[in-house]
Amino acid sequence: MKTYLVTGGAGFIGSNYIHYMFKKYGDDIRIINVDALTYAGNLENLKDVEERDNYTFVKANICDRDAINKIFEENEIDRVVHFAAESHVDRSIVNPEIFVETNVLGTATMLNAAKKAWELPDGTFKEGKKFLHVSTDEVYGSLDDDPNAYFYETTLYDPHSPYSASKASSDMLVKAYMDTYKFPANITNCSNNYGPYQFPEKLIPLVISNALAGKNLPVYGDGKNVRDWLFVEDHAKAIDMVQEKGKLFETYNVGGHNEKQNIEIVKTIIDVLREELDDSDPRKAKLSYDLIKYVTDRKGHDRRYAIAPDKIKKEIGWEPETMFKEGIRKTIKWYFDHNDWMEHVTSGDYEKYYAKMYDKR
Ligand code: NAD
Ligand code: TYD
Repeated sequence: MKTYLVTGGAGFIGSNYIHYMFKKYGDDIRIINVDALTYAGNLENLKDVEERDNYTFVKANICDRDAINKIFEENEIDRVVHFAAESHVDRSIVNPEIFVETNVLGTATMLNAAKKAWELPDGTFKEGKKFLHVSTDEVYGSLDDDPNAYFYETTLYDPHSPYSASKASSDMLVKAYMDTYKFPANITNCSNNYGPYQFPEKLIPLVISNALAGKNLPVYGDGKNVRDWLFVEDHAKAIDMVQEKGKLFETYNVGGHNEKQNIEIVKTIIDVLREELDDSDPRKAKLSYDLIKYVTDRKGHDRRYAIAPDKIKKEIGWEPETMFKEGIRKTIKWYFDHNDWMEHVTSGDYEKYYAKMYDKR
């Protein structure tokens, strides 16, 4: 039975990945989830799995070398899947240091701990061990509006925001470990994810939450920035397939050719919500395009991201299963049915953050 060490498993993609893995492998794997439970980590995301005998949660910071080494000493870890990170671009613009600390130093700590546990006296590594570093397409920078321009695995890194710079640095560290030590790893660079359990500071859950509350829907700049959206379960599947079928030391770009302008996303959410709400629901009367409010643009706002997923398709056979039309409806329904989840995560500190970020925009 393989033992997985998942970092950041209480966050958006990490918790979806853990659900995906238990759905796929049941009792045939063991998962240890290590998460510091920052504002973005929520154990409520995992209440369906917490009773399982093959699941363990450890509250620890990935920068805490002793705590991470202890996990490796006490368990024979076969796979590391490293999600833990500070993940929000707007926060990185306000406070870059924590991004360097968690994303760069935290990744270095994880790499060192895995290397220490897996390295044999002759400098090779124990058979079958694998480390997967989960990264983003934002490391490649920004594309212009040429519809034939894409990010490939060979595209040079050109990060702009403190977030993407910190992720690029962490990717480089992983590459350095692979090149220097032949450390058994892979990197995946994925496009924007959407789906259940995403913290409502990100565009899609923020717009759903505001729309249901009859609040303004803030659109940065001219609303024409493009993101390439992927349903989170498809990302989880890609990560698993890369670890099981990918070539070690390789990078794989993950995306589903689903480019949308931000304004299109916002309008789609309004349209779908209006279809879903009963005519008698008072929220429906307030819900229209009039809620859209163009606000001051994000500093250094990347114009367009678009992944070329040719390599992962050709070498591994991965393709997204959920089309945007279906995925966005599923996502909206999920937030609808989990109003209590939204209330819990938007209370307290997040309200202060929201006021700070948007009141002056
Ligand atoms: P998230 O912010 O929802 O979750 C991050 C998780 O990491 C949280 O549970 C948080 O508590 C934990 N964490 C943060 N700092 C920690 C620390 N120092 N020690 C231990 N745990 C810590 O992020 P997400 O959207 O789920 O992203 C997960 C990973 O995927 C990140 O590495 C991100 O760069 C990458 N990624 C995200 C997207 C996206 O669209 N969200 C796309 C591509 C790649
Ligand atoms: P976001 O979800 O923060 O992801 P990322 O910046 O990592 O791509 O933002 C997605 C896009 O939506 C991005 O172009 C910024 C824009 N955006 C808004 O227009 N309004 C908002 O309130 C937010 C949070 C984002």
